[in-house]
Amino acid sequence: MMLQKCITSQRIPWQAVVVADQTVADLHLDRLVPCLPPSPVVLTFQTGEASKSLTRVEQLCEQLADARVERQAVVVAFGGGVAGDLAGFVAAVWLRGVRFVQVPTSLLAAVDAAVGGKTGVNLRAGKNLIGAFHQPLAVIVDTDFLQTLAARDFAAGLAESVKHAVIRDPEFLNWHEAHAGEIVGRDPAVISHLIARNCEIKAVVVARDEREAGPRAILNYGHTIGHALEHLLGYELRHGECVALGMLAENELACARGWLGRPEADRVRNLLARLGLPVALAQPVQPDDVWAACQVDKKVRDAAVHFVLVRSVGDPMRVTDISAAEVARALQAIQPP
Ligand SMILES: NC(=O)c1ccc[n+]([C@@H]2O[C@H](COP(=O)([O-])OP(=O)(O)OC[C@H]3O[C@@H](n4cnc5c(N)ncnc54)[C@H](O)[C@@H]3O)[C@@H](O)[C@H]2O)c1
Ligand SMILES: [Zn+2]
Repeated sequence: MMLQKCITSQRIPWQAVVVADQTVADLHLDRLVPCLPPSPVVLTFQTGEASKSLTRVEQLCEQLADARVERQAVVVAFGGGVAGDLAGFVAAVWLRGVRFVQVPTSLLAAVDAAVGGKTGVNLRAGKNLIGAFHQPLAVIVDTDFLQTLAARDFAAGLAESVKHAVIRDPEFLNWHEAHAGEIVGRDPAVISHLIARNCEIKAVVVARDEREAGPRAILNYGHTIGHALEHLLGYELRHGECVALGMLAENELACARGWLGRPEADRVRNLLARLGLPVALAQPVQPDDVWAACQVDKKVRDAAVHFVLVRSVGDPMRVTDISAAEVARALQAIQPP
């Protein structure tokens, strides 16, 4: 109902084009469609990270061409972060850009991916290497959708919430600890607060630096090693699970340099475990392979691998002189027991 009110309050004439994750479409499309103008075009794609590909972008664009979708259309991204990134990118490039709305249905997308305007797909060489900044007209979250989310996917979203708390808001980190039970139990009021606070934190960071010229990069805490693990393990782990492991390994880097205190690193580890996130890998990774995967960013940016390390909760810092040996030592903390 809330969703319907939000969408129909947009007073613009529009043709709706829903680009939906197949799993989410099967579960929830019948609740979305009545909220849209009549006869929306509905395109679905196969669930999973593999759909973030140029091949899928091309297929979707061919379908838009077949359906004669025009410039006035509004693309509705319906699903998790994969739907948002893929549909958002299609909206960015179709006819050189059409409007789009994010309707995130996973916790990860609601607390992070749907906000901020980053869209894109992966290449064999690494994640999100093709993309565009394309801001949605609106991000509409209906927490009822989250009830069907698998426990593992729900926990994955919590990793980004902990990330936001650690880099920006010590009080919010305390709040996670105080409400861990209700968070895991998906208490509606607690989850609504969690989503709203995450959207605020991310929106403030992005508004200061939409195109990631500088300060926005703090959102990459946990992501240098996280993305490397995600890529290296063939996307078998969820993005949020890799971010959790990435934050732990990157906290070790910060501890080893004498920045982050051991009690704060332990606090983050304990919280992630309480929220149902992995704090160790199921299979060992070769440090050299992780380091090589970290180089993908380096290749496309400049001579250094970029890390965001925290000196204390709420105090992140960008660091570009981390060595392969330091990463190897830090990874010991997340290798299988
Ligand atoms: N653009 C950004 O700023 C940004 C930020 C963070 C992450 N991301 C991207 O987001 C992606 C990860 O997002 P994700 O974890 O949502 O992945 P996802 O979109 O693959 O969703 C995870 C799983 O949950 C299922 N699902 C989603 N909503 C559901 C619901 N309501 N009920 C039942 N099942 C549901 C999906 O079908 C899928 O199987 C990654 O590709 C990551 O790179 C982007
Ligand atoms: Zn992320």
